[in-house]
Amino acid sequence: MKRFRKLRQNEKMRSFVRENKISTDDLIYPIFVKDGESIKEPIESMPGIFRYSIDMLDEILNEIITNKIQSILIFGIPSKKDEKGSGAYDENGVTQKAIGHIKKKYPNILIIADVCLCEYTSHGHCGIVKNGEILNDETLPFLSKTAVSLAEAGADIIAPSDMMDGRVEVIRDALDENGFINIPIMSYSAKFASAYYGPFREAAGSSPCFGDRKSYQMDPANGREAMAEIKQDLAEGADMIIIKPSLAYGDILLSARKECEVPLIAYNVSGEYAMVKFAAEKGFINEKQIVLENMLSLKRAGADRIITYHALDIARWLNE
Ligand code: PBG
Ligand code: ZN
Repeated sequence: MKRFRKLRQNEKMRSFVRENKISTDDLIYPIFVKDGESIKEPIESMPGIFRYSIDMLDEILNEIITNKIQSILIFGIPSKKDEKGSGAYDENGVTQKAIGHIKKKYPNILIIADVCLCEYTSHGHCGIVKNGEILNDETLPFLSKTAVSLAEAGADIIAPSDMMDGRVEVIRDALDENGFINIPIMSYSAKFASAYYGPFREAAGSSPCFGDRKSYQMDPANGREAMAEIKQDLAEGADMIIIKPSLAYGDILLSARKECEVPLIAYNVSGEYAMVKFAAEKGFINEKQIVLENMLSLKRAGADRIITYHALDIARWLNE
């Protein structure tokens, strides 16, 4: 008889043969920064996550450092929005100022800046809108302006999440032309039009006010197309790729891991977080065990790093 149980007999043996492990180095923590002062607002759709004004950020940044998390992903929530999302590329915009603050006071934190227009546009779409259509080529200059402005503010990595075609190439060119030849691009290469983003849109106030994002984000039915998107982004100069959402997309992670060598990042999105949190609040699941199991599934599928709202909780458990 083949006795598989030999290697499962006690924790010492299990730990010795364990294939995957979660460490704080794997985790990227998203932070919402809101225009204004003295703000620390709970986000109802995401228990345990808050919107902070810049003057209130230190509390969470210190916690990140204490818990040995190395990297954060910044989302700005501006006080004013307009048709062209001008807050996204305003040198005094909330995101730029937040990045400047963090860079200066916490130089050891790796700052990843999400590049998109939807948090800054009055219509809530990720691009420029004309007659109800989300325009691709007209959006590109705004994305590259945004990327350059975030790099100027001090971002270490630029992460375009808009899903316009050709954006990685124009962003790479713009960064290079402006002297940011050493700023890498972490592209949301395979970003699906997912219902799992619901809680985030409540958090960032970025729901589209008409229609949906299906004309630019990917159809959840398509796996092969995700590989084509990834290859195209790499050809355009992406240094790292993000797959988003994560748990329902393990097949995409696995194929991406097999087909490319670059760092692969899974985005464990707001809806995935909220489902766990609310079920745990009800007392029907063990939060710590479920979260660690979810994270392991992403590592097993091939993720090198994981963007997750659970990051601080996980770090606290690991550091216990
Ligand atoms: C902006 C952006 C979104 C998320 C990350 N960047 C929202 C969207 O595409 O609607 C979602 C993150 C999450 O759900 O946690 N384009
Ligand atoms: Zn967007």
